[in-house]
Amino acid sequence: MSTQTLITGTLPISIEVVKESKLSEIDFHNLPFGKTFSDHMMICEYYDGKWQSAKILPFQNLSLSPACNVFHYGQAVFEGMKAYYKQDESGIVLFRPEKNLERLNKSAVRMSMPQIPEDLFMAGVKKLIELDKAFIPNLPGSSLYIRPFIIGTEPFIGVRTSDRYLFCIILGPTGPYYGEPISVLVYDTYVRSTKGGYGNAKAAGNYAGTLYPVEQAKKLGYKDVLWLDGEHKKYVNEVGTMNIFFAIDGKLITPETDGTILEGITRDSVITIARDMGYTVEERPISIDEVVAAHEAGKLTEMFGTGTAAVVNVINCFGFKGKDYLLDDKAFEIAYKIKGMLEGIQKCTTEDKFNWVVNVL
Ligand SMILES: Cc1ncc(COP(=O)(O)O)c(C=O)c1O
Repeated sequence: MSTQTLITGTLPISIEVVKESKLSEIDFHNLPFGKTFSDHMMICEYYDGKWQSAKILPFQNLSLSPACNVFHYGQAVFEGMKAYYKQDESGIVLFRPEKNLERLNKSAVRMSMPQIPEDLFMAGVKKLIELDKAFIPNLPGSSLYIRPFIIGTEPFIGVRTSDRYLFCIILGPTGPYYGEPISVLVYDTYVRSTKGGYGNAKAAGNYAGTLYPVEQAKKLGYKDVLWLDGEHKKYVNEVGTMNIFFAIDGKLITPETDGTILEGITRDSVITIARDMGYTVEERPISIDEVVAAHEAGKLTEMFGTGTAAVVNVINCFGFKGKDYLLDDKAFEIAYKIKGMLEGIQKCTTEDKFNWVVNVL
């Protein structure tokens, strides 16, 4: 195995390249999300109060003490981003990666973990993309999914902040995400987050707590859950693992970032594009009663979720208190217009007027 060293601003990254790539084993036409990984990963340990030298290694299992904090008390935060070819295949780009770093560090602070230096994050992501660029499917809608995460690794059973951490970046090719229209169940029992909690952190525990309610919703025939707020179980929070938007009377309405919702990068981009297109966007509390009343008055014309995977995922049904409320997604206009514009910017077929796209290679 060859080893070379890349010196970034302040932290060196050593690189050990795989002897044999597993590229030939991959069926790029059949890529279930999250199951296939590229040749390399990056790891960086934190101890003695600082991040140590980072290493890029062949993708492999980690060896950790079973007493690590992450296994018991869940000190874990992560991010999700994509690298993909421009439409004309002239280069590989990332979409607003600095926002992912900003959010990772915000999540880390909330979970009492150390922050990641910008040069370590950006150099690691870029070097991994360069090494594993052959894993980026050159097929429409496909991309290389990038998963940076930090876990508490001090081998100590006790509820307190860990003094050791591991920052890791893994990558995997993903096929196109079609984002079929979805039906969602509105719970007024289970919640995903509450005021004073950590719903705005991309922390593992936020997801673990949703697994059981989502499984119950699926048994009832819904694809996902529309979450309400934790205090009153009245105000709309998020949909599945996406931010939620409603079009009522020609205006877009989305819950404000009050600490209980994840501050989605797609959410922010959709708001910016919608305002630029001339739409009024209101960021404010919206109750499920207002949504139902707007539906009954024929004023609720669109409903959609936003996130990195689907960009915009339209919703054609929500179930609440035993009744299904249907929407004709074929008549949606704003959702598809914004989705088209955002995907155009991402694929560099539309002018990047907000400076969101970052060239990697
Ligand atoms: C809970 C939750 N909400 C919203 C989002 C959408 O965020 P983004 O647009 O940054 O992907 C995600 C996905 O990251 C999520 O996990």
